[in-house]
Amino acid sequence: MSLRNKVSIKEFSFYYGSVPALKRINLEIRANEIFAIFGPARSGKTTLLKSLNRLTDLVYGARHTGTILLDEKDIYDPKLSLTQLRRRVGIVFDLPIALPMSIYENVAYGPRLNGITRKKQLDETVGKALRSGALWEEVKDRLHTSALRLSGGQQQRLCIARILALEPEVLLLDEPCSGLDPISTASIEETLTRLKKDYTIVLVPHNIQQASRVADRAGFFLNGELIEEGTAYQIFTGPKEKQTEDYVTGRFG
Ligand SMILES: Nc1ncnc2c1ncn2[C@@H]1O[C@H](COP(=O)(O)OP(=O)(O)OP(=O)(O)O)[C@@H](O)[C@H]1O
Ligand SMILES: [Mg+2]
Repeated sequence: MSLRNKVSIKEFSFYYGSVPALKRINLEIRANEIFAIFGPARSGKTTLLKSLNRLTDLVYGARHTGTILLDEKDIYDPKLSLTQLRRRVGIVFDLPIALPMSIYENVAYGPRLNGITRKKQLDETVGKALRSGALWEEVKDRLHTSALRLSGGQQQRLCIARILALEPEVLLLDEPCSGLDPISTASIEETLTRLKKDYTIVLVPHNIQQASRVADRAGFFLNGELIEEGTAYQIFTGPKEKQTEDYVTGRFG
């Protein structure tokens, strides 16, 4: 983990209509760390992830105050290219939605849109992304068969590989293991731990156990507020705030 800040969230509030979903969040996410955003339902976790690559722009009537910096640059700067931002900050949602096409085409889709057309270069990009997503060994002999025949865990890793093929800098993962069995979950967690060497990862974990297994640091969210942040060890073994402690020890959830 380096100490350089990759993402800086400053006094960031987000409103759907008049209802605040995030309230004056201040948070630094460092390069090459896995940062876990955790908390009960509707605490604002997904809203924060979506704000980090401005997917929230699509919500009618929504607005924000404060700002978010990526490498010290304001992501809400009107001069900034949204396409470029979304290439640098990739997001993977909880339900793996492989496209109804081959495994190869699922991964090649994004790079093709970005103008990579030579077969050799596409092959390399697809191979590299599938290796980084820890799926290569399982699919290398059937790259041209339908992705829909993969298991849930494999489809989830395929979706991660699809994003990795675009070579983002920050990877946002919203409960990437919901609905997966323990073995698939373990392989995704292993993948994440390996990926942080090259990426900054912001993870909404499936549960607290997962956060304590993979995260370097973590922040506890409740009703749109960041209650407490710290190293995962500190947060999960000795939280400072009573609300964090109640949640971590399972007193509410
Ligand atoms: N598109 C939307 N329009 C209006 N309100 C929304 C919208 N999306 C989310 N909200 C509201 O914002 C608040 C935060 O929701 P968000 O999805 O960010 O929470 P979450 O922590 O990800 O919850 P969960 O654990 O259930 O996924 C909730 O009160 C939710 O109802
Ligand atoms: Mg959510």
